[in-house]
Amino acid sequence: MWGRRSYGRVVLEQARRLWEKQDQHRGDRHRLFSAVAAAVDVETVLYPGSYVDLAPSFVWPSVTYVDIDRRATQFFDDEAGVRALLADRGVDPDSHSVRFIEADYSDSLDLDDGAFDLLVSLYAGFVSEACTRHLRVGGCCW
Ligand SMILES: C[S@@+](CC[C@H](N)C(=O)[O-])C[C@H]1O[C@@H](n2cnc3c(N)ncnc32)[C@H](O)[C@@H]1O
Repeated sequence: MWGRRSYGRVVLEQARRLWEKQDQHRGDRHRLFSAVAAAVDVETVLYPGSYVDLAPSFVWPSVTYVDIDRRATQFFDDEAGVRALLADRGVDPDSHSVRFIEADYSDSLDLDDGAFDLLVSLYAGFVSEACTRHLRVGGCCW
């Protein structure tokens, strides 16, 4: 198993650069999702139109990200980089599931209906219209 320092050494420049641009208002999304986590009981999260906003994985153990942008694919393909970003925030990457799907979220996604506790909709269009079916009964769209 890799130690925390090893993650730092292997992180690819691309993932780090994309994340630092995403996180330009340092920690704002981490604080936002922490506030949501305090209000709702959630384990599984679906985030269509996520781009490279990894912050939900700082808070929740299982997050599925969906985006059509190739830069998001490059970011999430850099598994070592993503693990390093999680480890930087004190998250054990082995205890968290980070899945990325490159797709148009309005197309049929290879995901079960009712599989998620929380649907995140942030500046990415008509997410709830296309993806609410993936929320469990009693789940939350935020
Ligand atoms: C303005 S960015 C917001 C990114 C992120 N939600 C945030 O708040 O930082 C919008 C993102 O939604 C993605 N997006 C928009 N429509 C989409 C669609 N139909 N399917 C997949 N991704 C989509 C874009 O590729 C882009 O990465």
